[in-house]
Amino acid sequence: MTARHFLSLMDCTPEELNGLIRRGIELKDLRNRGALFEPLKNRVLGMIFEKASTRTRLSFEAGMIQLGGQAIFLSPRDTQLGRGEPISDSAIVMSRMLDAVMIRTYAHSTLTEFAAYSQVPVINGLSDDLHPCQLLADMQTFLEQRGSIQGKTAAWIGDGNNMCNTYIEAAMQFDFQLRVACPQGYEPNAALLAQAGERVRIVRDPREAVAGAHLVSTDVWTSMGQEEEVAQRLELFRPYQVNRALLDQAAEDVIFLHCLPAHRGEEISADLLEDPRSLAWDQAENRLHVQKALLEMLVEPAYYHA
Ligand code: CP
Ligand code: NVA
Repeated sequence: MTARHFLSLMDCTPEELNGLIRRGIELKDLRNRGALFEPLKNRVLGMIFEKASTRTRLSFEAGMIQLGGQAIFLSPRDTQLGRGEPISDSAIVMSRMLDAVMIRTYAHSTLTEFAAYSQVPVINGLSDDLHPCQLLADMQTFLEQRGSIQGKTAAWIGDGNNMCNTYIEAAMQFDFQLRVACPQGYEPNAALLAQAGERVRIVRDPREAVAGAHLVSTDVWTSMGQEEEVAQRLELFRPYQVNRALLDQAAEDVIFLHCLPAHRGEEISADLLEDPRSLAWDQAENRLHVQKALLEMLVEPAYYHA
């Protein structure tokens, strides 16, 4: 039997995605009530990190422990992957010992190649193209605070990066409109844009993007792997800072989300995470809960009831 992977939001149906979020909310409630729930006892998640991480590592590791299992952190520096052992061979061997593998990598093809040879589920913990686990947390946060996002409008401000691409997928899967304000030459993935059609609109003026929006989000101007472009990006993205005045142009009940880490004074004003409209801390916490639902669905589907 081939394993089920989660490399993109498009690997699930909209019903499954909404189910994961509902289940994430249930698991959050269970944890808040102090209830033990350990369906993944003796299960082991391998976590390959080619890039740095705080939230992704912690949420997957803590999540596995809370579900009764274990997680093993694997750095390419300390494994044969970093010394040139083929991805395919690594996938075959690792998946004979593990119950699931989470990978944070550069090229998205590393994920698809690993998944093609893995006999256990592979989870995308961020690639240069996509960050689907983050969008599960974002969508959980919106649902908890404002109800269904269906038919609402979201605005993405800044770089058309991996997060922006995943917002496009989310717009298609969760059925909302998305306006992306980015500088010329920093647009999101063209194929995804074509697939999304009228659902996503590219604009240059951040005020046009946020006008009446129910959700506003942004991300760092320089993603991991782009460090050499810092100076030119700082200059180019300056008109794209999200601040209180910009949020004032959005809907009265707008929420602001940021996947973190944030660079205060760059993509957000120094005070924005303290603004009552910002839910970035809840959003970060929700990584834990909704990924536990994802692990449950992928590793132990028999226990999973969305
Ligand atoms: N948002 C997010 O993925 O954070 P980390 O880079 O800390 O994992
Ligand atoms: N776009 C950022 C997201 C970090 C969570 C990056 O790829 O570095």
